[in-house]
Amino acid sequence: MENQFNISVDDIPKKWYNILPDLPEPMPKPMDPEEGPSRVQNLPNLLLGECLKQEFSEDTWIDIPEGVRELFAKAGRPRPLFRATRLEEYLGTPAKIYYKSEFYSPTGSHKVNTALAQAYYAVKEGYEHLSTETGAGQWGTALSYACSIAGLKAKVFWVRAVHSWKADRLAFMRMLGSEVYASPSDQTECGRKLLAEDPNHPGSLGIAVSEGLEVADKDPNVIYSLGSVLNHVLLHQTVIGLETMEQLAAAEAEPDIMVSCLGGGSNFGGFAIPFLGKVCRGEADIKFIAAQSEVAPNLQGEYRYDHADHAEITPMLKMYTLGHHASMDPIKGDGLRYHGCAPVLSVLRHAGLIDTVAYPKDERHVFERAKIFVQNEGFLPAPESAYSAACAIDEALKCKKTGEEKTIVFNISGHGFMDMNGYQEVLGF
Ligand SMILES: Cc1ncc(COP(=O)(O)O)c(C=O)c1O
Repeated sequence: MENQFNISVDDIPKKWYNILPDLPEPMPKPMDPEEGPSRVQNLPNLLLGECLKQEFSEDTWIDIPEGVRELFAKAGRPRPLFRATRLEEYLGTPAKIYYKSEFYSPTGSHKVNTALAQAYYAVKEGYEHLSTETGAGQWGTALSYACSIAGLKAKVFWVRAVHSWKADRLAFMRMLGSEVYASPSDQTECGRKLLAEDPNHPGSLGIAVSEGLEVADKDPNVIYSLGSVLNHVLLHQTVIGLETMEQLAAAEAEPDIMVSCLGGGSNFGGFAIPFLGKVCRGEADIKFIAAQSEVAPNLQGEYRYDHADHAEITPMLKMYTLGHHASMDPIKGDGLRYHGCAPVLSVLRHAGLIDTVAYPKDERHVFERAKIFVQNEGFLPAPESAYSAACAIDEALKCKKTGEEKTIVFNISGHGFMDMNGYQEVLGF
């Protein structure tokens, strides 16, 4: 068959790829701010021991425990790579277009890849509760699912602006046994302070991160689990890119352009990092494009040390940032509304290896492109993933103008079955 490429369940990667040793410049270490207690020293109270070890590991390959590979198989990995033959025909482009199908996920997105690994380690380390943030709701659902399978309880702080329009996702998280709070919430000091200033505060990922961290910091039975930004999260996500590499080899295709949306960087990193490693080692020449929103174009921000959360509980990370108190208007692709880009991707951006495009706050162009994708390929992208589809289509249309037969590969990080209201509101049907 010409349009689907897959590997067998036994070929689910056995190791994650860690790009740190291959980076063109060393990755700057987390730092403490000038004032207050040491955030760096407090990290073991907040994050899982195994994840912290992985965060700073200099090993190129890190074993995926057999128990995690089994969970990956249970969650439907490996996920196929498709050639978008109908889309190519519709666009009339000479480009060859492929997409990875992270939408085939029990909860709807790539986020399960790290959720399963983190829940697995949490059980090994004797925890019973995990706390976390969520923006689009995809990460909160993924962690709720992983916790329910592992016999753990999750406490989810969900950006209020999204919590209020995704009733199905809220019900799903509760069905999986999680406690879910609209953030800012009355559960934490940070949340109560913001609610006192504005009872209708729309929230942000940075605020939700602070609330999840505060709960973990104050209760020794709770450990925090992050869905993006940090190295260990992107490391767990490299199964996406490693599978894609095998599948492209089976398709006898070499990517010229790789595209994915970027909020904090977990799906972009997981998809692109194994290929970025090849570029760093001089083994490939690929253009990488991160699709973002102009409400949160963090890759166009400053490259400097900044906190990863609103209340400054995290250490300072060197990253492209808009500032941890930046206000960002709500959009339907709300998972892209985060102030900073993963430090490891920031190093690669700084080295000139990652391009970016920021789409307008009015999401009509992006969602019209998603409509073209769904009408030709049949899969409904999550609003965030619509940015990947839009960018891939825009690149394919550039090829149509120039006549170049480029190979464009993109990642559909999730499905939009629970986000239809967003499409309806923007497209007006
Ligand atoms: C489906 C989906 N894709 C992408 C993102 C953006 O996050 P990240 O950049 O960590 O992949 C999110 C965030 O919630 C998401 O739900």
